[in-house]
Amino acid sequence: MTESLEALRGYVHFLRERDGVRQVRLSRTAREGLAKLAGEGKVSKVSVAVPGGSAVGSRRPPGDGVSPVESRGPAQSTVARSATATSSPPPTTSVANTPPLEITGSTKVEQLRHLAERAAVCVKCPHLVARRHTVVFGVGNPEAKLVFVGEAPGEEEDLQGEPFVGRAGQLLTKMIQAMGLTREQIYIANIVKCRPDMPEGVTGNRKPTKQEMETCVPYLRAQLEVIKPIAMVALGATAVEGLLRPVGTIGSLRGKFLEYRGTPLMPTYHPSYLLRNQSNTEKRKVWEDLLKVMERLEMPISEKQRNFFLKV
Ligand code: URA
Repeated sequence: MTESLEALRGYVHFLRERDGVRQVRLSRTAREGLAKLAGEGKVSKVSVAVPGGSAVGSRRPPGDGVSPVESRGPAQSTVARSATATSSPPPTTSVANTPPLEITGSTKVEQLRHLAERAAVCVKCPHLVARRHTVVFGVGNPEAKLVFVGEAPGEEEDLQGEPFVGRAGQLLTKMIQAMGLTREQIYIANIVKCRPDMPEGVTGNRKPTKQEMETCVPYLRAQLEVIKPIAMVALGATAVEGLLRPVGTIGSLRGKFLEYRGTPLMPTYHPSYLLRNQSNTEKRKVWEDLLKVMERLEMPISEKQRNFFLKV
């Protein structure tokens, strides 16, 4: 065991710091080794230690399979990493029995940072840990009135550590801008924080499994509890399913507010659907959904905005 963990040493690279959270990138060998240990129940938490960093005491509910980053310090190009071995079995989770994550910290920024730190070292899904480059926690304003929820990171998001930065993400950014907003004013997160793995040599993305969603959704639930948005948009059926369980097809759900724990939730098509169906009719449907969200947020709406995509 120790030998295996030792073998992982030296394979971790500091990637960057986002919102005060270090995102580390493991080499493939390290990822696969870590995933194997996690799958065998030999690792239930991983800590990233920065030489010279000061310890932050962060509590962890027992048995949730993740740990906070235990030591912090000035950004450095190399980090020493240690994995903690335990004899507990790999955790199993389901929506029904997954306890909510404990929220620690006194400000929204701090609370989100603590959650991001835990997600960054999560090993609950060993098969995803084996392939992921980053954990894509979420991005945006902790005080956001509006939160967009997607399904899971794709290839580009996995590499960059930020949700919706690939082709679908660029379209989402345009939609946000058409509303008169910026990505910095709102918050964007996914149901699943790690890229769903694809078979070797196969490109593209896959929908996360029910189990992956059930395992990961407590992070999103905690994010929403911290942010407390006034309204939310669920991008595609998977996002609705992750938040509310299966309630219908996106075609039948879109355009009418649902409710997520007291917050109005507008289901609409995922931007990747609009990339495949580029007619003004489909764009208009999504736009009408977003107009309803703008009205709910009491945002000013110009005549020009009201008429977007009306020419079919
Ligand atoms: N699709 C999603 O649902 N989320 C992303 O972050 C990127 C693409």
